[in-house]
Amino acid sequence: MSDTGPDVVVAGYDAVYSAWPHSATLRRIWREDAVDAEYPEAFAHISFLTTIEMRRLAAALRLTRHTTFVDLACGTGGPGLWVARETGAWLIGIDVSPVAIGHATARAAGLGLSESTRFALGTFAATGLESTSLDAAMSVDSLQHAPDKRAALTEAARVLRPGGRLAFTVFEFDRERAAGLPVVGAAPLDDYRPLLESVGFAVAAYEETPGWRERMTATYEAVLAAREVLTAEMGAVAAAALLTEVSLTLQRQFYRRRVFAAVIKD
Ligand SMILES: C[S@@+](CC[C@H](N)C(=O)[O-])C[C@H]1O[C@@H](n2cnc3c(N)ncnc32)[C@H](O)[C@@H]1O
Repeated sequence: MSDTGPDVVVAGYDAVYSAWPHSATLRRIWREDAVDAEYPEAFAHISFLTTIEMRRLAAALRLTRHTTFVDLACGTGGPGLWVARETGAWLIGIDVSPVAIGHATARAAGLGLSESTRFALGTFAATGLESTSLDAAMSVDSLQHAPDKRAALTEAARVLRPGGRLAFTVFEFDRERAAGLPVVGAAPLDDYRPLLESVGFAVAAYEETPGWRERMTATYEAVLAAREVLTAEMGAVAAAALLTEVSLTLQRQFYRRRVFAAVIKD
């Protein structure tokens, strides 16, 4: 395993991101079940971030015009671009999926944000960014994929200036249920706070997000119910990647909680 995690993670996300524009059904399921009715479609994502959570995340970063922040595991860039537009801050988005980086770059252009944003390949553990170069960092529903959580959070602390803010949503694992599973069983953390403090962050907020399990279950059940049309729209490889993750998550229930965290670099 490299620090990008098993290649299967990158291949799976590349396939799903490639298929996303071709699957009206997947986009409809996400719009109807994963997020709230107010969530702006132009900033769509493949996570479970609600409009309220996105606003809270933006507020926690304390960004102002021409400060700089990174969206770690940005995917196709939706939430990070929303924060950049709202605050006037400069955005760097990092992800392991080349397809995601391509979509995020195109989306920024479509939104007129190319001048103030840049998207690049990288991992949680190796962002390629300079030390103490950033005012803030965010991450949405992704850190649970990092194969080495200590390396990931050490890297986040390294790139932030002292007093810099990190805000993120993440899934905590039920260690017993995740044990032995591919990818998620590699380093299942059930509480990120001790690790955050040990790498140099003071924890300002850390709490379970309301309604996450209901939204995740509704979304994943809708995906399973639409199995055939999704396979037709997305193609067999992308649909299999999505359906495997969704089935395993529902069967094994290895997510203990989904939490929102806001921390400050010492
Ligand atoms: C659930 S998606 C969320 C993406 C995005 N934050 C959003 O809200 O749409 C998880 C993302 O984590 C990325 N990822 C997985 N492992 C990673 C790693 N080790 N380093 C950086 N990104 C990673 C995937 O490519 C994917 O884009």
